[in-house]
Amino acid sequence: MSERSLVLVKPDGVSRGLVGEVISRIERKGLKLVALELRNVDRSLAEQHYAEHAERPFFGDLLEFITSGPVVALVVEGPRAAAAFRQLAGGTDPVEKAAPGSIRADFGLEVQFNLVHGSDSPESAEREVKLWFPDL
Ligand code: PPS
Repeated sequence: MSERSLVLVKPDGVSRGLVGEVISRIERKGLKLVALELRNVDRSLAEQHYAEHAERPFFGDLLEFITSGPVVALVVEGPRAAAAFRQLAGGTDPVEKAAPGSIRADFGLEVQFNLVHGSDSPESAEREVKLWFPDL
């Protein structure tokens, strides 16, 4: 069964010129690209996207970061797409959690600047794809 997932190359990934690297890994994994857009994130979209983290102490930093510059938003499709991309991304902390060879382990140093976002489940993916690409 094919599934869709939302992927973001966050502002640090875009400013560091890692968009091609991330897309290349997605394609090599075998996931299909079904939407792709460079866009600036306004406060409202950021708050809705990260709503489940509203009570976390880093929520303010998270919103400031994701609205600090353009992101590349993608929808990827394939079997177990959300889990497959999260495997490519690696764990949240690029040093303590991300597996060697993952995007975050290969290119990241700090939790806050961890380059990419991927929906954490098929249910989150459905919500996030609707939020970012309502016409899809
Ligand atoms: S946790 O602790 O593993 O549950 O955190 P997680 O749910 O993976 O993190 C949710 C998103 O918050 C980001 N994050 C942070 N941002 C700024 N500062 C700190 N300290 C911090 N910790 C986590 C993290 O990158 C997740 O963002 P996304 O875009 O979903 O990957």
